[in-house]
Amino acid sequence: MSNLSLLILPGDGIGPEVMAEVRRIIDWYGDKRGLVFDVSEDLVGGAAYDASGTPLTDATMARAQQVDAVLLGAVGGPKYDDLDFSLKPERGLLRLRKEMDLFANLRPAQCFDALADFSSLKREVVAGLDIMIVRELTSGIYFGEPRGITTNADGEREGVNTQRYTESEIARVARSAFELARKRGNKVCSMEKANVMESGILWREVVSEVHAAEYSDVALSHMYADAGGMQLCRWPKQFDVIVTDNLFGDLLSDVAAMLTGSLGMLPSASLGAPMANGRPRAMYEPVHGSAPDIAGQGKANPIACILSFAMALRYSFDQGGEADRLEAAIEKVLADGLRTPDLMGPDGGTPVGTTQMGDAILAALDASL
Ligand code: IPM
Ligand code: MG
Repeated sequence: MSNLSLLILPGDGIGPEVMAEVRRIIDWYGDKRGLVFDVSEDLVGGAAYDASGTPLTDATMARAQQVDAVLLGAVGGPKYDDLDFSLKPERGLLRLRKEMDLFANLRPAQCFDALADFSSLKREVVAGLDIMIVRELTSGIYFGEPRGITTNADGEREGVNTQRYTESEIARVARSAFELARKRGNKVCSMEKANVMESGILWREVVSEVHAAEYSDVALSHMYADAGGMQLCRWPKQFDVIVTDNLFGDLLSDVAAMLTGSLGMLPSASLGAPMANGRPRAMYEPVHGSAPDIAGQGKANPIACILSFAMALRYSFDQGGEADRLEAAIEKVLADGLRTPDLMGPDGGTPVGTTQMGDAILAALDASL
């Protein structure tokens, strides 16, 4: 095989450091497993702004549309805080999501056994946790019109954003959630605010319709999103797949992230419709941000980014077995007590930096052969 193409966008802050470790893993798969990837690299976010005055050039956008999958590090940093809204690093990321039409954002929250004591919640609440948040990613209040800051008739400034969903936008992300549930615990909980929002009423109706027509074998429940946040902290293991809109998904996935002990552990996949080759349009990125406070110091945890590549193996390249191998290697390294600073907790452990963590994961991969 030689036609697997990847575009790597390391971005800002710790993005380049963690992505360097992913590149070594990618090379390992080429050398040891015959999975040869055609890898190219480009700029996004503040790095792109510094080079060309925009957080994502048209040329980079076009390349992203041509590859099998995009791997993104992180975007943003204090240096860009005063830029015009349209030039902020985050706009590069949002443009990729929107123009690639990556409507289903999969954010697994899994608690590795070795880290169960790191959560701010009790061990029994989080040990063995394995839930999947499916966040709608291309619509809702992030993109709805009208939007902006205007001055109203009373001469007062007014900020406006619009929460807006069409039936088809809800139906397609609901299908993604039901499909995933069938491969997991066969349960979906849909979250919205149907008690106060019309878009929430429609959300609940459409999810129920899709369920009745196509997925009645899957157990479906509904929850108001605020109660959902509370239940995630109270007893997260009640959930299997959660499906929710763009903004609630943003919030709830950060809540779920903390259940697992560190944001440095969480990967994500953003998937769209199938391309001509049958693979879904796809971008993979860690849930964590660019962490400017530790950037360039070799301290960042590369695991979330490496796990994002594992998701690429699974969802873009039909290599579920190889994804399992990579996840098992990470589990092994954690069980051996290797800890980047974000993971230094109650059990002590062996402090390591970004590259050493990469070395250990590569060694565990070698040992798996
Ligand atoms: C996320 C982030 C982004 C979002 C930001 C960086 C634009 O918080 O991916 O969760 O709000 O979607
Ligand atoms: Mg977020």
